[in-house]
Amino acid sequence: MLSSTISKLAAFFFIAREALALPSVREWKEFSNSLDGRLHSAVPVSAPCFPIVNNKTSTVDPEGCAVVRAGYTLADFRSSHYPAYMFPQWETCQRTEEKCLLDSSNTSNPLAWAAPCQQGYVSEHYLSVSGPEDVQKAFLFAKKTGIHLSIKASGHDYKGRSGSKGSLNIWTRNLDSLEYTPNFIPEGGNQSYKETITFGRGVPFEDLYKFADTNNLTIIGGYHQTIAASGGWVMGGGHSVLSPVYGLGVDRVLQFRIVTPDGQYRVANSFTNPDLFWALRGGGGSTFGIVLESTFLAEPRMKLQVASMSFNRTATNYQPFLRLLVDESYKWGTEGWGGHMGPTNIINVNPLLTTEQAIESLKNVTQYVEAQNGTVVIEELPSWEAFFTKYVTTAQASVGVENTLVSRLIPTELFTNEAAKATLTNTMVQMIREYNINPYIVVGTPFLFDGLENATSVTPAWRHALWQIGGHDGWQWNSSVPEIRNQFQIAHNVTQLLRDLAPDSGAYFNEGDLYETDHEESFWGPNYPALLSIKRKYDPHSLLDCWQCVGWKGTQDVRYDCYLSLESH
Ligand SMILES: Cc1cc2nc3c(=O)[nH]c(=O)nc-3n(C[C@H](O)[C@H](O)[C@H](O)COP(=O)(O)OP(=O)(O)OC[C@H]3O[C@@H](n4cnc5c(N)ncnc54)[C@H](O)[C@@H]3O)c2cc1C
Ligand SMILES: *[C@@H]1O[C@H](CO)[C@@H](O)[C@H](O)[C@H]1NC(C)=O
Ligand SMILES: *[C@@H]1O[C@H](CO)[C@@H](O)[C@H](O)[C@H]1NC(C)=O
Ligand SMILES: *[C@@H]1O[C@H](CO)[C@@H](O)[C@H](O)[C@H]1NC(C)=O
Ligand SMILES: *[C@@H]1O[C@H](CO)[C@@H](O)[C@H](O)[C@H]1NC(C)=O
Ligand SMILES: *[C@@H]1O[C@H](CO)[C@@H](O)[C@H](O)[C@H]1NC(C)=O
Ligand SMILES: *[C@@H]1O[C@H](CO)[C@@H](O)[C@H](O)[C@H]1NC(C)=O
Ligand SMILES: *[C@@H]1O[C@H](CO)[C@@H](O)[C@H](O)[C@H]1NC(C)=O
Ligand SMILES: *[C@@H]1O[C@H](CO)[C@@H](O)[C@H](O)[C@H]1NC(C)=O
Ligand SMILES: *[C@@H]1O[C@H](CO)[C@@H](O)[C@H](O)[C@H]1NC(C)=O
Ligand SMILES: *[C@@H]1O[C@H](CO)[C@@H](O)[C@H](O)[C@H]1NC(C)=O
Repeated sequence: MLSSTISKLAAFFFIAREALALPSVREWKEFSNSLDGRLHSAVPVSAPCFPIVNNKTSTVDPEGCAVVRAGYTLADFRSSHYPAYMFPQWETCQRTEEKCLLDSSNTSNPLAWAAPCQQGYVSEHYLSVSGPEDVQKAFLFAKKTGIHLSIKASGHDYKGRSGSKGSLNIWTRNLDSLEYTPNFIPEGGNQSYKETITFGRGVPFEDLYKFADTNNLTIIGGYHQTIAASGGWVMGGGHSVLSPVYGLGVDRVLQFRIVTPDGQYRVANSFTNPDLFWALRGGGGSTFGIVLESTFLAEPRMKLQVASMSFNRTATNYQPFLRLLVDESYKWGTEGWGGHMGPTNIINVNPLLTTEQAIESLKNVTQYVEAQNGTVVIEELPSWEAFFTKYVTTAQASVGVENTLVSRLIPTELFTNEAAKATLTNTMVQMIREYNINPYIVVGTPFLFDGLENATSVTPAWRHALWQIGGHDGWQWNSSVPEIRNQFQIAHNVTQLLRDLAPDSGAYFNEGDLYETDHEESFWGPNYPALLSIKRKYDPHSLLDCWQCVGWKGTQDVRYDCYLSLESH
């Protein structure tokens, strides 16, 4: 079965692109034999609904199709199925329009499967990793045959970096260990950390949060249940609504276990391979190796003050609200608030105040929301787990839809004088009025956290910012290439507005504009040269590469053939 897939694949790529290296049938067989059944082949996740799959007639599988239709916009479904990504656009080859999508607004729409199902961007071959030897074999195989590698844990990446057409994908989802270690001492070190959790690369936040809670602990983590905590999230920075007090993911990770592309299974912490550890704390996923496990510092279980407010939008009531958020944010920052806010809503969290203090702190905004006949809840919850279950699972970003992203870190100094506050407010209003994109404000920078400037490799802009302003847009399953390109162009233009507002700041590697201008400066600032030399040291043959990552080969590389180019607009 594998060999028939292989010859089909070989024929396909021989025609499509001569430059793509391909292992021989014999090489695939040997590789597969060395992996005890963990090398698999895959078709797109929606294939069961389609009568034509990869140019061949296929038997529609009504039950399989019903499962896909029901799960199409559910994060748990997507993260547990290898060929599914959070944003289905990364299952498609955007430039050639090869795809196999359903209509996410109505997954029963039969127009979707009237089109042929094509493999698109989904790697036909994937290795479900069980341990370091598998990864070592994969690196050797890539070095020998020239096949590209890609790495997927949850498939949350906004820029298509957890897949690559024609690659061998390393799927780490099944590395699901979870262990509580009190008095943890990093290997080779002499410093002890009171409460820690060590977990496998595939573990999603929802499992980690539950596990921490069961042990009376809190893990500082992201705003989505299925992000895989010890991968892209932490390697790119990792913000949380608790980051203002407790730091970013990169501030809290104590140790990684990783197979570097030179084939070594290594420990990286402040004592052992400290250069690699520094690079892994901000340099990004898919760059320095394949992480199998990491250890995070935990906090005791904590009470949280939670404020959730929203009101219905009119033509005039969101602008004063945005101005109010700008006016209050510096004070809120000093009080330890984090949260997610928009033109008509906030969900803010505070681990430091009492309920009375929280009510007093939010008085102005409460008054405003009540005057709009909106809803206001300010309450104390006993734990992060209680907050996450009650608020986040219903408010987190949609998946299963096509998506573009805007973002910029907004420096604290913009909140400290009237002229800057007015400009900041006006820019957000412009996003809404001119582009119909709502500012998505993440209060998740390490504002009160005492992080050393060069302890991590994220852009120092994180340590001087109070907000990240983001924004989402998207397109439909059946949009044409010019429409899709236009959406990316809009996101790029809106990001430019924010860049103009804060030209000396930076952006979050994990949540930047797909076509981020001067990405090395935006994502890493002065840390880039050191990151690049560490990349060269541990990946001397550049076996790993991804879009706008450290050491990126650039748009001309065959790996990026499926990305649209804005220049040809
Ligand atoms: C709905 C949603 C909500 C989000 N909320 C937040 C949030 O609250 N805070 C925040 O900071 N970010 C958030 N993000 C962004 C998120 O942090 C990034 O998308 C992150 O890259 C996801 O990491 P992942 O490993 O789960 O995803 P994947 O897509 O599986 O991987 C992301 C990157 O890491 C690489 N990678 C995966 N596994 C490994 C490995 N074992 N070793 C090395 N590299 C690997 C991949 O190749 C890819 O480049 C959110 C994203 C989404 C879609
Ligand atoms: C399917 O057919 C198209 C058009 O002939 C061709 O470009 C493509 O490579 C084929 N795909 C596969 C998987 O064979
Ligand atoms: C979804 O599409 C199906 C098939 O066309 C149709 O019967 C159904 O009414 C649609 N559902 C909605 C909510 O539009
Ligand atoms: C750990 O070792 C370093 C270097 O050997 C030393 O400077 C430091 O004081 C030690 N710290 C502790 C807590 O023992
Ligand atoms: C958690 O705390 C509760 C209440 O203090 C205690 O009863 C329980 O034993 C603790 N559980 C663990 C796993 O420490
Ligand atoms: C920051 O630390 C890294 C790793 O230790 C080092 O390579 C780099 O030169 C340092 N950068 C600065 C600006 O000090
Ligand atoms: C409410 O706004 C007023 C006027 O801007 C300000 O002086 C006051 O400190 C704010 N109140 C609170 C509780 O923040
Ligand atoms: C709020 O409700 C009151 C009473 O129903 C109404 O008079 C008022 O116009 C409403 N205000 C807004 C902003 O909707
Ligand atoms: C807000 O809009 C919803 C949906 O239209 C409506 O049910 C609700 O009553 C509105 N709330 C206010 C305060 O006007
Ligand atoms: C795309 O699909 C939608 C239904 O989801 C339909 O209304 C629209 O007409 C389609 N557009 C094109 C260009 O086919
Ligand atoms: C984006 O900005 C460029 C340059 O200012 C402009 O030419 C283009 O029309 C804009 N495109 C969109 C979709 O906003």
